[in-house]
Amino acid sequence: MIGAAEAWRKAARGALQDGISPDQIMWGDADAPEDLFDTFEVARGRAEAVTVPRSFIALANRVVWHSDPSRFARLYGFVWRLRDAPHLITDRGDADLATLRAMEKNVRRCQHKMKAFVRFREIGEAEANRRSFAAWFEPTHFTVEPTADFFVRRFADMDWRIYTPSVSAVFEDGKLRLEAGCDKPDLPHDGGEELWVTYFQNIFNPARLKVQAMTSEMPKKYWKNMPEAASIPQMIADAPARARAMAEAAPTLPHIRVDRVLAQAQAHQSAWDGPAAGLPAAIRNCARCELACHATQAVLGEGPKTAPLMIVGEQPGDKEDLQGRPFVGPAGQLFDEIAEEVGLDRSQAYVTNAVKHFKFKAQGRRRIHQRPNRSEIDQCRWWLDAEVRRVAPRLIVAMGATAAEALTGNGDAILKRRGTVQIADGHPPVLITLHPSYILRARDIDTRLQAAEQLRVDLRRAVDLVAAPRKLASA
Ligand code: URA
Repeated sequence: MIGAAEAWRKAARGALQDGISPDQIMWGDADAPEDLFDTFEVARGRAEAVTVPRSFIALANRVVWHSDPSRFARLYGFVWRLRDAPHLITDRGDADLATLRAMEKNVRRCQHKMKAFVRFREIGEAEANRRSFAAWFEPTHFTVEPTADFFVRRFADMDWRIYTPSVSAVFEDGKLRLEAGCDKPDLPHDGGEELWVTYFQNIFNPARLKVQAMTSEMPKKYWKNMPEAASIPQMIADAPARARAMAEAAPTLPHIRVDRVLAQAQAHQSAWDGPAAGLPAAIRNCARCELACHATQAVLGEGPKTAPLMIVGEQPGDKEDLQGRPFVGPAGQLFDEIAEEVGLDRSQAYVTNAVKHFKFKAQGRRRIHQRPNRSEIDQCRWWLDAEVRRVAPRLIVAMGATAAEALTGNGDAILKRRGTVQIADGHPPVLITLHPSYILRARDIDTRLQAAEQLRVDLRRAVDLVAAPRKLASA
């Protein structure tokens, strides 16, 4: 029915003003707006001004296009109740409102489908000023009238007609008119249609096919008037085979994360047996123990790959964790000072740690160093062994108990062992000494001076031993 919205509004307003209750009106679904409703013979009350919430008007403006013949009566029944209880328009528990909202949603969806699924065919003469198109569409609700403006805006520079069983929209020379509906017209063949179908078939991705989602978005009832829909069943049937073919033809380049995954897989084997060049990446990706979850990063050893001297500390400290380099914090500075005093060129040594991640306890903003436990040392020994094999130094200096334990398997108190060289078959000799942090933490000046001197003596000895390999044999 053309003009139903305006007609209903007028009729409802008048009835409300006259105080005509819903049970006194018979709403029709007539072809002409003037036949929209009939009142029973009633004693009319006095006319009164009626106001209704704005949101009801918006709701009614959509619901009037629903195909359910009861829509007018439902709208009027609800607006009648609104007179005394305007808050009902937001009452989610109200059954009448719920029905109207559902109808509104149906109409909205139907409008959306109309915008998406109307398919025009060119009907005009080749030499005409404006091109001319026509479409046949079968909407579920009376959505031509409220949706016509969309087509006017979209196709303003051409003439077009949308025929439907109930109402037809005709746009000619920039003017829109609505006409009565009609039977499906015989529209001429349109060459552009094949192009469109080819395009549709080409954008279809068989690997992404979700039939349910597709038919919900493009309900089957619309298919018969959409040229591209004829190929959908075949495309669905062919999809699995096409998706398989696509997968087989896919490039065989490894995924960007393969390196990482391999490194992690190797990290769980009993010994690192990857290529030497892969060692840094493998250490960086290590997740062999929980320390990796809390530290900023794994701190790798640094120095020449065939350094004759290897220096091993305990684990990165706060500064090392942030900078990603070993011995750059206070302990590192002390080590550098003493190393310089004894002629140890740090840049010629390979400097690393027994444990690659910083272990700490958070205390406010501070991160307090925690000594790694045996299991953490064991997990990380994997990397240390790989570094030792790779660098193959003439001598290793183990600074502190953790390094000594990792390199010799013996975790006994360090003070008794410092200055000794431990020799084991197939392993470079290990000179045990104090850790610079031990010196920094010493409570009294005497202990500190003594410990610093002991480290100095041991590092000087290391320099000597590396320079004179023969001495190493008798160390
Ligand atoms: N202490 C260590 O044992 N290693 C470092 O890298 C820093 C401090």
